[in-house]
Amino acid sequence: MSEGIAIIDKAGVIEIHIDRPDKKNALTGVMYRAMTAALADASARDDIGVVLIAGRGDAFCAGNDLKDFTAGPEGGAAAFDFIRAIAAFEKPLVAAVQGLAVGVGTTMLFHCDLVYAAPDARFIMPFVNLGLVPEAGSSLLAPAILGHAKAAAMLLLGEPLDAQGADRSGFITAIVPADALLDHARSKAGALLAKPPQALLTTRRLMKGDPAMLTARMEEEARLFRETLSSPEAQEAFAAFFEKRAPVFRRA
Ligand code: COA
Repeated sequence: MSEGIAIIDKAGVIEIHIDRPDKKNALTGVMYRAMTAALADASARDDIGVVLIAGRGDAFCAGNDLKDFTAGPEGGAAAFDFIRAIAAFEKPLVAAVQGLAVGVGTTMLFHCDLVYAAPDARFIMPFVNLGLVPEAGSSLLAPAILGHAKAAAMLLLGEPLDAQGADRSGFITAIVPADALLDHARSKAGALLAKPPQALLTTRRLMKGDPAMLTARMEEEARLFRETLSSPEAQEAFAAFFEKRAPVFRRA
């Protein structure tokens, strides 16, 4: 257990529980590093076949801690390391999502294989609202999965996608009642574990295809993201959040 992240390591599955419910599971540098380390551990160990990601409390994850964003370009370094690690991770990833999944709380799910969501799940990518640009390959993967028009509502307007919409669009695997969510995800992780490992890994790699385009897009996003972090638009958006007021991007 490192601050804000609980790891459960048992019977072939590493579970990463985001555990900072008082801040809606917003991710700090320390938390990203703990998650990246858990993925590296899972990758290195032959006895681990699956990683499951879940959030404790009423939200899955409120995205990057906005205080870390205000720390400047280096504030995001641990986040980008995590994003690269989850995108390159070669074993099956299962996610259990309840409540809000904001920013990287949504974009990390593009890299998961089986995503189970409670009926109250809401997926939000408010990068533009924050004066930022998408990350984790979401500028490529969101239009590919949702279609351009639905992705535009999420990425340009910052509108939420609810569980039903996410299910219809194929962004999630299934909606599961909240009180059964974690058990359901665990049972699917167990089902994956029972499959012939080489056939499973090879099939997953084939499904993902050539990673070159995604990797290039993620690097372009990361470069632009770092540039926009210190922009006046982003600074105004972060200040407005902590001052609990509406941001003003255009002066009359
Ligand atoms: N970074 C830092 N703190 C965050 C946070 C984040 N991303 N998300 C939530 N928190 C904190 C709030 O500041 C608040 O702290 P406080 O109790 O010390 O004031 C606490 O978590 C609870 O959040 P609150 O806003 O009161 O809950 P809510 O249910 O009204 O709203 C959200 C929840 C997630 C919609 C709202 O907190 C939000 O918009 N957060 C920012 C999400 C975001 O933009 N993430 C970055 C994406 S790139």
